[in-house]
Amino acid sequence: MGTAPQAPVSTVNDVVSVEKRGAIALIALNNPPVNAASHALRQGIQQAVEALQKDPDVEAIGLYGEGRTFIAGADIREFGKPPQDPWLPDLCSFLENSETPIVCVIHGTALGGGLEVAMSCHARIALPGTKVGLPEVTLGILPGAGGTQRAPRLAGVAASLDMITSGKPISADKALEIGLIDRIEDGSPRDIALQAAQELAAATLIHCRTGNLETNPDPEAIAAVRQKLQKTQPLLFSPHKCVDAVEASTLPLAEGLKKERGYFQECMESPQRAGLIHAFFAERAVAKIPEAKETPREIGSIGVIGGGTMGSGIATACLLAGYDVTLTERDQAGLDRGLATITKNLEGAVKRGKLAADKKDLILSGKLSSAVDLSALSQADLIIEAVFEEMDVKRSIFTELDKVAKDGAVLASNTSYLDIDEIASVTNRPQDVIGLHFFSPAHVMRLLEVVAANKTAPDVVATGFALAKKLKKVAVRAGVCDGFIGNRILSFYKRAADYMMMDGASPVEIDTAMTDFGFAMGPYQVYDLAGLDISWATNKRRAATRPAIERYIPILDRICEEGWFGRKTGRGFYIYDDDGIRPNPDALKIIDEERAKAGITPKKFTPEEIVSRFITAMISEAIRVLEDGIALRPIDIDAVYLFGYGFPRFRGGPMHTADQIGAAELVKRIEKFAREDGYYWQVPGLLRHMAETGGSFAEKN
Ligand code: 3HC
Ligand code: NAI
Repeated sequence: MGTAPQAPVSTVNDVVSVEKRGAIALIALNNPPVNAASHALRQGIQQAVEALQKDPDVEAIGLYGEGRTFIAGADIREFGKPPQDPWLPDLCSFLENSETPIVCVIHGTALGGGLEVAMSCHARIALPGTKVGLPEVTLGILPGAGGTQRAPRLAGVAASLDMITSGKPISADKALEIGLIDRIEDGSPRDIALQAAQELAAATLIHCRTGNLETNPDPEAIAAVRQKLQKTQPLLFSPHKCVDAVEASTLPLAEGLKKERGYFQECMESPQRAGLIHAFFAERAVAKIPEAKETPREIGSIGVIGGGTMGSGIATACLLAGYDVTLTERDQAGLDRGLATITKNLEGAVKRGKLAADKKDLILSGKLSSAVDLSALSQADLIIEAVFEEMDVKRSIFTELDKVAKDGAVLASNTSYLDIDEIASVTNRPQDVIGLHFFSPAHVMRLLEVVAANKTAPDVVATGFALAKKLKKVAVRAGVCDGFIGNRILSFYKRAADYMMMDGASPVEIDTAMTDFGFAMGPYQVYDLAGLDISWATNKRRAATRPAIERYIPILDRICEEGWFGRKTGRGFYIYDDDGIRPNPDALKIIDEERAKAGITPKKFTPEEIVSRFITAMISEAIRVLEDGIALRPIDIDAVYLFGYGFPRFRGGPMHTADQIGAAELVKRIEKFAREDGYYWQVPGLLRHMAETGGSFAEKN
């Protein structure tokens, strides 16, 4: 038997090719890494279909993607640039109107514009394990290539609203159940496309134009989602527009598409779109570090020292990611407390559906061990210290670790503020020492600051990033200073809040202004949650070195002197009891007393003024963090605040916000505030330079 003749494959452009087999033509997409619907991809598909329609031999077309996925969406990098023909919506209409039927085979993640292309084809087949979704809302837009019109025609209004307003992908099985796809088939996308196109040509695969279907009106579903969104997402713009667009899907297709286009344009012009897309790229940009090419050290087993709030959370995170973990504590009582917290955390993961119950038992019986002696960590590949925030305690732990840890083990501290260089200096292996700063609760919060000290070896930094990936966290590289990126900025802007409180704003006014701005919690709610005693201890630690010129607000210390440490004691700036949460009148009395003592007549702060001072303070210190080289780029600071400090995602982070406000305006604000307190409010050199010469933080990314 001879080999079959090679089927003719022709190249349309760099990313699209066509293979012809008798009456069948296959269009292959190859635009790595995710087959984004870039200009070249759109143009290539259109040119290919145009040519095939004119080819009298071709009776059916199969469309599929090469590589790890079918089209994962429009090319987000093109957003905000002048559009280039063919637009994705026009391409989708063109495909739908093709006289030659097209079957689309999807695999990987057919998201956004990818699913919209698929819905415009005349039949859809998915490989097992495919995820489909319309995640545009997470980028501040809506499916703008007919998704809001074609999804309801295929899957109904309620299911489409669910997908479009949540942005969450669904499985191929679910997509089949709701009618988004026609069948699931295993094999290679190319082979399935060939076979399905043959079925199309033989008229054995049922197909139709989605636009010819009608949407069943569902006003109840529309009203219910509107009501829910008003409650859950009052500050966001695009989810509400998604509902408006889906509502229009009962109109004839052309009219519905026109409405969708209008709403899409409104979303594109919203600053929320820019903020959310910046956040999308921030999550990925932070992985681009100088040490990215280093080979990370192998990590199989992890030791955690300290089973308090952080240690038990870190141990939980590592266990959930599949690591073997050994926990150590000062004594058996500490160990028992730590183990009980880990068990509770894992039970919580089971309740939230994140972990199977039998898996939890397996973890507890097989993956977790404990000891009161550091020598139990002698075989650990990575050891994370999370004991009290006291330098002497940390020094003594690391001195001991230097003796017991095996060669090449990574020695990490979870310290919030302390100097990693000093901690490393007590060992004979400072190259192996690093800061791994987790955030509370450590098994939930996505941020991990990876703090590279002076002598940390590059492969140890790479190991921190590899660990974060395994823990599904966002790692950001930070340098050593008091508080690294996040807490250094936090320590600064907390003072701006305290100054406003002293000068006349109540904690609840400040918190409300900041939650209305989009923060999950205001600063005083955060103080109460984290425990006021932690800030009190920091205040005491810094008292000796605090410059006399610095304005100091003793209100938090006085609240702590009453034994009120926030939520955990039921009282702080607020009262927490069975009647709910409300301002603590005794804290307000302390505030009044301190104002009187300082001779301050309280003045009124508008919410805008509160936000302005708070955010300007945050940006000022963030710029100094950048100037000092503690953060690599502005976008790293944005990622820290988005993933660790509840900064509103739709605002893109403090540096993105700084660009929105503008350097000149920020300088003007700081100079105005400096008339009250020229020590606290100082214009960072970089900001002044930008105000004078132009430029943006985005350019520095
Ligand atoms: N456009 C441009 N670049 C994209 C992209 C897109 N839609 N999706 C991913 N990328 C880039 C990433 O930035 C990353 O680049 P980098 O390597 O330079 O950092 C690279 O592709 C790989 O991405 P991930 O690291 O995220 O790879 P994963 O395998 O972890 O995830 C994914 C793959 C699930 C496809 C994920 O990238 C993703 O969710 N992408 C966004 C999907 C999306 O939102 N699609 C809708 C776009 S909007 C739209 O379609 C509008 C339309 O309705 C008109
Ligand atoms: P914690 O007080 O809840 O826990 C500390 C634990 O360390 C205690 O259980 C204590 O018994 C144990 N411990 C003390 N000395 C020890 C020793 N020699 N050997 C073994 N165990 C010892 O404190 P928390 O909040 O967990 O903080 C731990 C570290 O994490 C600190 O450095 C802190 O700054 C940092 N951190 C805290 C965050 C928070 O939100 N609480 C967030 C990020 C970092």
